[in-house]
Amino acid sequence: MQLLKGALFIAICAVLATGEPLPDRSMIHAECLEKHELTENEFQEMAEKMSLDIDNRFKCYMHCMMSGYGHLNESGKIVIEKIQEQQYLPERHVEIFTECGEQHEAVEDQCEYVFTLSTCVMAQIRKEAEERMG
Ligand SMILES: *[C@@H]1O[C@H](CO)[C@@H](O)[C@H](O)[C@H]1NC(C)=O
Repeated sequence: MQLLKGALFIAICAVLATGEPLPDRSMIHAECLEKHELTENEFQEMAEKMSLDIDNRFKCYMHCMMSGYGHLNESGKIVIEKIQEQQYLPERHVEIFTECGEQHEAVEDQCEYVFTLSTCVMAQIRKEAEERMG
């Protein structure tokens, strides 16, 4: 599950708010926890265990964060340009976002969509990083 732990960490720290921490991050975080009835402790615990059958509230928390940042369109699909407005994304990451977005576009549940998409993006970024390091 090491891969998924990494996926989670980056999903939250990087995919959602890469680089400069956005000023309203902790506010959105608190609102999203409350909205999905997650305590900070539960959140930390789930983040540590991070598994594919993770609690749906956690997936919805991730959806809530991306939505809070304005990264999703009205259908709940990711809009890469919106992320790029807020942070720098390397060209290859843009391609990976696009590929993973296309792969998971048919996922109807919006929370599931954000979760599988983030997992896909991070798995691919990690895989390519490992390949570069040999
Ligand atoms: C949201 O984005 C998806 C994927 O790019 C697109 O197919 C869909 O038409 C968009 N929906 C709206 C309401 O803009």
